[in-house]
Amino acid sequence: MNRTVFLEGNRCKLTVLSKDDYEQSYFHWLHDRDVTYYLTRGTYPTSIEQIRNSYDDVSNNPNELELGIINKEDNKLIGVAGLHCIQAIARSAEFRILIGEKQYWGLRLGKEVLQMLIIYGMEILNLNKVWLGVSNENDKAFRSYLSCGFTAEGTLREEIFRNGRFYDVTRMSILKNEYIAHRESWPTYSCILKKPSL
Ligand SMILES: CC(C)(COP(=O)(O)OP(=O)(O)OC[C@H]1O[C@@H](n2cnc3c(N)ncnc32)[C@H](O)[C@@H]1OP(=O)(O)O)[C@@H](O)C(=O)NCCC(=O)NCCS
Repeated sequence: MNRTVFLEGNRCKLTVLSKDDYEQSYFHWLHDRDVTYYLTRGTYPTSIEQIRNSYDDVSNNPNELELGIINKEDNKLIGVAGLHCIQAIARSAEFRILIGEKQYWGLRLGKEVLQMLIIYGMEILNLNKVWLGVSNENDKAFRSYLSCGFTAEGTLREEIFRNGRFYDVTRMSILKNEYIAHRESWPTYSCILKKPSL
C-alpha cells in the first residue's frame, strides 16, 4: 500500500492513517486484552461506528495528531502514536502510543517513536512540554519514558480500574530544556531536524 509518510525514523516511519486503518487494524488492537492491559481503553467494546467517529474526530481536530507506526523492515502497520490535547497557549501536549502487533514489542520501536514525536513536538509545534500518564506496572512504557528524559510529576492514586483491580498512574513530562539535554544522546532522525534549537 502506498502511504503518506509524515516522519521517517531509522527503523520505523510515522504515516497518515486512513479510515480503513482504523477499521481493519485499530479496531482489532482495541479488542486485544494484552494490548490494552494497562489502559482504560478496552474496558468497553468499541463498535465499528465508534471507531469511524473516532477517526473523524481526530482528523478534524487540529489539537489532535495521531499517526500510524510502520515497521520499515516489513512495511507493516504495527500501531498508532500521537500528540493529543495540544494546547497552543501552554505549549503542551499529551503523548500516547499503542503498538497493537504484539510480536513487535520489546524491539525498542516504541522508544524511537517516542523520540521522533518529542522532536516533532518541540521543534515543529514549538511545544514546551510533552506529558503522559502511565500505569506504574507498565514496565516497558515506564522505562522507555524514563530513559528518554521524562520526569515523574506525581502519582494519581488508584486512577484506573482494570483487570479486577485499581492501578496507580504516574504522570510524567519532559520540558524543552530537558529535551535539549537528552537529545544529544539520541540517534539522528534526519527527516525532522538535525540540531535542536533553544
Ligand atoms: C509500551 C510500549 C509502547 C513500549 O514499546 P516497545 O517498543 O515495546 O518498548 P521498547 O522496546 O522501546 O522498550 C522500552 C524500554 O523497556 C524495556 N523493556 C523491554 N521489555 C521489558 C520488559 N518485559 N520488562 C521491563 N522492561 C522492558 C527496554 O529495555 C527499554 O528500556 P531501556 O531503553 O531503558 O533499555 C508497547 O509495548 C505498547 O504499545 N504496549 C501496549 C500499549 C501500551 O501499554 N501503551 C503505553 C501506554 S502509557
